[in-house]
Parts: sequence; C-alpha cells; structure tokens
Amino acid sequence: MSTTSTLSKKSAVSDPEQVSENYAKKKIMTVPAFRARKAGAPLVCLTAYTAHVAHLVDEQADMILVGDSLGMVIHGMPNTLGVTMEHMIMHGQAVMRGAQKALVVVDMPFGSFEESPEVAFRNASRIIKETGCTAVKLEGGREMAATISYLSTRGIPVMAHIGLMPQQMNTAGGFKAVRGQDQFDAVIEDAKAVEAAGAFSVVVEGVAVHLANKITKAIEIPTIGIGASAECDGQILVFEDMIGLFPRVPTFVKRYGNMEDMMRDAITRYADEVRDRSFPADEHTYKAKESD
Ligand code: KIV
Repeated sequence: MSTTSTLSKKSAVSDPEQVSENYAKKKIMTVPAFRARKAGAPLVCLTAYTAHVAHLVDEQADMILVGDSLGMVIHGMPNTLGVTMEHMIMHGQAVMRGAQKALVVVDMPFGSFEESPEVAFRNASRIIKETGCTAVKLEGGREMAATISYLSTRGIPVMAHIGLMPQQMNTAGGFKAVRGQDQFDAVIEDAKAVEAAGAFSVVVEGVAVHLANKITKAIEIPTIGIGASAECDGQILVFEDMIGLFPRVPTFVKRYGNMEDMMRDAITRYADEVRDRSFPADEHTYKAKESD
C-alpha cells in the first residue's frame, strides 16, 4: 500500500465542509447543470468502483457511474443479475470517498425497483442515504415511467437506461443490440416516456447510429451513449473495458490502455524476484535502531 496516496480525506464529496465550499465555488456537477449540457460540450462519463479509481476518473469526468457491471468486471459474475443492494452500496461508498466534483450516480440492481414505485423508493433512498451519491440509474423505458416519476417527484434524481438493457438478458435471449428498424419506434417511445416521467438524462446502450440520432433529437434531456455512436450528448464506458483489464472486448469498446499486460508483467517480475531472492533488496528492509 503506497504511503503517498493522492486521496485526500478532506476532499471527499462526503465531507460536509468541503461539499458546501465546492458548491459555493460551483465545482460540483449538479443534476440541473448536467441536464443543461444537452446539445452542449459532450458529457464525459465513466464507471468507477473503488475510491482511488474514482479519484483519478474525477479529474476528467462530468459523471461517475457506479454501475452494476461491477458484478462482471469486479466480482466475476457471468452477468449483472446477481448484483445486490449491498454490492452497490459498498462500492458506492468507496467511490464517494474518492470523487470530488463529478456527479455520482449509482445503479439500482436487478430486483430492487421493478416490483413497485414504493419498493423502488425504499431502495433508491437507501442508496442515497448510505452512499451520499446524488442520483440513481435504473433500466427500463415506458414500463418504468411511473417509477421514475414517483422517485423524481420525491427528491431522487433518476437517470434512465434504454436500448440494450443487460438486466433483460434472459427475456431478450442475450445481450442484443437494437439494430432492426422495426424496433426503432419502440425505443424512441421509451426515450420520450422516461423524459416525460422526469428522468434528468438517459443512458442509451447498444443501438444503431441512426436510432441514436433520432433519440437524441427527440428529447430535451442528455443522451449518454454506450455502443450508441457519437450521435449522443455524451459517452460512457466501463472503466475496466477502457483500460484493457477485462478480457471481453465488445465492438463498441475502445481500449485506451492495456493494463492486463502491464499487471501480468509486474506479477511475473515480482514472482521471479521472490524466487531468486533479489526482492526484497536492501532498500526495502528496516534496519535495527541503535539501542538507547
Ligand atoms: O453498469 C454499467 O456499467 C452500466 C453502463 C453500461 C452504462 O450501466
């Protein structure tokens, strides 16, 4: 563990003194400010699941998502369906300790919001209370409009998620991008419904370029694309995908680094040096103090 961590206890968003100072200086991205970026400078969004990654991402991002993809990229699950409220809250708390100015949004896991608006409110308010994040994200279009309205009129900002919805993988028969023109109208109706219900923004996942363009033009809230082209108002990627730390590379992912190779190399060199006793070297050892 490095002793020179750049994580400052004083600068975490959850520090009340720092929060009001940052708001006063208009440094923290708020929901209205995020929404006002519709058709403006593209919104930069990334996922983060740990405090230090959140601290690094925060330097560039307008929004940090604690997404339920953490089930796959951190916990080794085959999909997102096994993710629990406890997972989301624990990683949400870690991210809030690292984030300073970005808007932090936490995903509602499968099974925590679909049953009724009341159940969704109970779980969303727990996420907000226990993590200190600003907003929640939930998957669903028209079928979730009543829930989005219930939450957003009761103090919980909601980011919606339409198009390819990973939590629907069993009914859809897998992770299926929306490419058939016969599907386009339904997704545009979803976008309009979540906007009318009060969502402040919407993630649009896995849709054809033409559809992303139509959705972005059809609504007044920012569209955040993942596998949805540069036609959206902003972009999001899963951090582990983007830095090359996850073996799956879907078409829409651009790898900006190859962390897996760097890590394998570091682990191999460490193992070699332990085996040949060249680590620890003299400079890594404590010397006995002179006795008094
Ligand atoms: O969980 C997640 O990472 C997400 C992104 C794919 C937007 O929902």
